[in-house]
Amino acid sequence: MRYMEPIISDEDLRSRLRFRDMVRERTLSLYEQLLGLDFRERVLSTLEKNGKFVWYDMCCGNFEAGIGLKDLFYCDGRKDILPKITAVGIDIDTRVKGDEVLDYGVIRRMGNVVEAVLPPDVDLITCLRGLRYVEEYLGKACQAVEHWYNSMPVGATLAFDYNPEIFFEVRGDGPILINDAPLLEVLKLQLGESVEFGKFKSLVEAAFTVKIHKCEDKKLKLH
Ligand SMILES: C[S@@+](CC[C@H](N)C(=O)[O-])C[C@H]1O[C@@H](n2cnc3c(N)ncnc32)[C@H](O)[C@@H]1O
Repeated sequence: MRYMEPIISDEDLRSRLRFRDMVRERTLSLYEQLLGLDFRERVLSTLEKNGKFVWYDMCCGNFEAGIGLKDLFYCDGRKDILPKITAVGIDIDTRVKGDEVLDYGVIRRMGNVVEAVLPPDVDLITCLRGLRYVEEYLGKACQAVEHWYNSMPVGATLAFDYNPEIFFEVRGDGPILINDAPLLEVLKLQLGESVEFGKFKSLVEAAFTVKIHKCEDKKLKLH
């Protein structure tokens, strides 16, 4: 793990990230493509089991994707489903302090994803093109992944993008290591089959995806 500075306040982090050139408005279909998720299928199957669907997106940017999810069902003529879907995006750099209510009741919340409070009934946690900044500015990517995984109930999924060394130059990402071992290796070692590793052709966007389906109530220990 790289630690740029011993401590950086949320205020400091916010002002540094604000002026960083990055894409903050990826759509739901890009989330699907880059994280290998089928939101329609996932929501419908979860609703069948639990009667609701709870999605938290870490480093959400403007959280276009959250609105996109509700819009998907609105356009399907399934307005009955909308109140059963909770979509919360968390980002350090938002317009308002606390919660901002977007279209369809989608929430964008100001917060640092490393210690974001997550509900016990979350079904899906995503982080698209955010983890690299958590590592770069705070050196806490592993801590964040551990916290997200340990906050999820059995049956939930965590999906994020990850770029191994061969793509550092193309993507500008740095390594995410735990005692010199790449994060992905340690995840596979600890969680085995429940870690799914996806490859994508496009290098313009995320190159690889890690999807973890939580199968047992076991704590992950990454730092
Ligand atoms: C490249 S943008 C991606 C936004 C969105 N996921 C998308 O794909 O459009 C990365 C986002 O991560 C946020 N971010 C970086 N570090 C963060 C942290 N520790 N806590 C919360 N948000 C963070 C930035 O403010 C920025 O909005």
